[in-house]
Amino acid sequence: MEIRFGILGAGKIAQKFCEAANGIGVKLQAVASRDRSRALTFQERYGIATMYGSYGEMLADPDVDCVYVATPHGLHYEHMLACLRARKHVLCEKAFTLNRPQAEEVFAIARENGLFVMEAMWTRFLPAVQEACRSVKSGEIGSLISLEARFAFRSTNPPEDRLFNPALGGGALLDVGVYPITLANLVFGVPNRITAKARFTATGVDGTAKIVYDYPDAKAVLFASIEEDGGREAKIVGTEGVVRIPGFWATETATLCDLKGQPLRTITLPHRVNGMEYEIEETIRCIAEHRLESPIMPWSETLEILAQTDQIRSLWGFRYPGENQSIFVDLKR
Ligand SMILES: NC(=O)c1ccc[n+]([C@@H]2O[C@H](COP(=O)([O-])OP(=O)(O)OC[C@H]3O[C@@H](n4cnc5c(N)ncnc54)[C@H](OP(=O)(O)O)[C@@H]3O)[C@@H](O)[C@H]2O)c1
Repeated sequence: MEIRFGILGAGKIAQKFCEAANGIGVKLQAVASRDRSRALTFQERYGIATMYGSYGEMLADPDVDCVYVATPHGLHYEHMLACLRARKHVLCEKAFTLNRPQAEEVFAIARENGLFVMEAMWTRFLPAVQEACRSVKSGEIGSLISLEARFAFRSTNPPEDRLFNPALGGGALLDVGVYPITLANLVFGVPNRITAKARFTATGVDGTAKIVYDYPDAKAVLFASIEEDGGREAKIVGTEGVVRIPGFWATETATLCDLKGQPLRTITLPHRVNGMEYEIEETIRCIAEHRLESPIMPWSETLEILAQTDQIRSLWGFRYPGENQSIFVDLKR
């Protein structure tokens, strides 16, 4: 079944998406940018059939089946609602929405209208990540004790950039923190207790976040930053060995070591294009099978991760503009 994609927002990640789609022969039907000349340049670069100088025009195009939402996460909610009202299926970048209530509304509308929606958390679809998770769950490194995952880099982007801008959903937690959080959820499931500390930027978003998840017999220490180079590796420790995953959110490899650090087995599962092809293929498969959600990235998981990021922000007392205190009620664990 051919699914014709429309790209909403011609920014950086949209370029990687188009490279992946072209690499696996997926139809890029349209691109929409707020700036017509940017849409034209983007269209020519990626061989896209049509281009639009506004999002609304693209959503009115009956030849677009599924929209890839690639705008800053503070805008995902309004952009997804616009897509669903235009009866388009949706693949939306992480962080899916700012908070759980927004995501609940998006899923409710998708359900009412029989439309597919999925968070583009590409890490979940990567073969090396899936194999590393399978290996730890099968007991290859014994009983699991701990996980440490770090995604921390120093951005030199200006304060108005989406990374630092509260109005666009800025901050380390929703930009990069969602990757260590995803890995912890894949390995251990839902935590019993969450503790978290943050350092805030001059623009008022969390520049650095240190989060600890407690489980009955294990612990995960998660670190995210957009203001310091603080590591990009995950380490999963068991009673009989350790798994090391460099650049775990985008990885093609993982190494299983004994307790002395000697490598026992290296998992190498290279991307076919750049790693985004797997989520694209899953979107096409699900739509072809008339599914509303993917079993690999189900709505329940998106909602659970957002409940966790809401809880972390409630510990910090950090709300985005327009959010009211009520988003932090019912956050009991
Ligand atoms: N999966 C991944 O590995 C990955 C990596 C990076 C980012 N992301 C996610 O993808 C999303 C976009 O990130 P990005 O790095 O591609 O950002 P970006 O380069 O800044 O692009 C975002 C695009 O959104 C559009 N936009 C609409 N309203 C905007 C506004 N008020 N301010 C700024 N941009 C606006 C712009 O496109 P037009 O002007 O063309 O309309 C802009 O180019 C974020 O949610 C981010 O978390 C995912």
